[in-house]
Amino acid sequence: MGAEHARLLDREVSGVQLQAIFDIDSAQGAAVASQRRGARTFEDPLALIRAADIDAVLVASSDGSHEELVLAAIAAGKPVLCEKPLAPDIEGCQRILKAELELGRRLVTVGFMRRFDSGYRDLKSGLDGGGYGAALLVHCIHRNRSAAAGAPTETLITGSAVHEFDILRWLLDEEPARITVLKPRSSRRSLPTEDPLLLLVETTSGVIADIEVFVNTGCGYEVRCEVVAEQGSLSLDAPSPIVVRRDGGVVKELPSDWRPRFVDAYRRELQSWVDSLAAEPSADLASSWDGYAATVAAQAGVRALRAGTSQEIALGTRPALYAGATPADKEQP
Ligand SMILES: NC(=O)c1ccc[n+]([C@@H]2O[C@H](COP(=O)([O-])OP(=O)(O)OC[C@H]3O[C@@H](n4cnc5c(N)ncnc54)[C@H](O)[C@@H]3O)[C@@H](O)[C@H]2O)c1
Repeated sequence: MGAEHARLLDREVSGVQLQAIFDIDSAQGAAVASQRRGARTFEDPLALIRAADIDAVLVASSDGSHEELVLAAIAAGKPVLCEKPLAPDIEGCQRILKAELELGRRLVTVGFMRRFDSGYRDLKSGLDGGGYGAALLVHCIHRNRSAAAGAPTETLITGSAVHEFDILRWLLDEEPARITVLKPRSSRRSLPTEDPLLLLVETTSGVIADIEVFVNTGCGYEVRCEVVAEQGSLSLDAPSPIVVRRDGGVVKELPSDWRPRFVDAYRRELQSWVDSLAAEPSADLASSWDGYAATVAAQAGVRALRAGTSQEIALGTRPALYAGATPADKEQP
């Protein structure tokens, strides 16, 4: 993911100069830097974050390292875009919120790029202004061709469904309130990972979203979403730029992973983030509050998976610093 962000910042995003890269695997850091114009490498991530010619930081390292690097960026007073999850545990997210609140300004953006996908944006503008009435149900599908062998079942929730939690909050402009996790029969190609899972999320107004997460389909990368509302339904299918006609059939090809599917969304997200450094941040950029909310939902999902019972998703009160973040400041139904 970091190599892809480096490519986009170097080649496809304007108003930014990629200055430096740190990877704990120095050979990997050097390999990525060598493909990028003028980027140097650092031996120490904290030295990179503090360097005088570094104005902003992008964190795309392993989940467990996000908190330390984001806190270092806040301490240095530098804007930081952190890949999801903001931190894998709720306490880590709370420490980041506390650091921002003490500073009194928002520096953190979380990489929930689906908010910049044209399909999801059409879905949201349809829902907000299309006269469909209130949303009632959402059907979400998140499928990968394959995942790491033996991945803990929890990662289906913390690594994959976490995108669904964020996009539900953004699409519906309200918070998730409860989660139940059902375990259908597991695919033999996935075991010992229990895969697929079916998550049921109920929002504060009573919308129910069912989320299928299936990370070893053997087929390809697929994300779908259908919102069923009072006056019709809106559906985002898996966009497929390539249609192949062969052997008497027509095949819409699926990408092998998320990069081709969401490359435009990553590019728009990064452009919006870079633009926000000089001006007002776009309301669509996910804040640290949004990152915290997604982790709270994911951890409730992990509890529901382990306990076999539905669990409350309790966010607490959103601090005033995050006014304007998701959900929008408007009357809830
Ligand atoms: N938004 C999305 O759609 C999306 C997609 C994929 C991954 N991600 C996120 O991006 C991050 C990276 O995922 P990935 O798939 O590239 O993982 P990966 O394992 O392929 O790569 C992680 C890289 O981080 C480096 N690293 C590990 N610990 C580090 C540390 N403390 N400091 C610096 N570098 C460190 C590793 O050496 C490796 O090069 C994860 O947080 C993941 O959740 C987001």
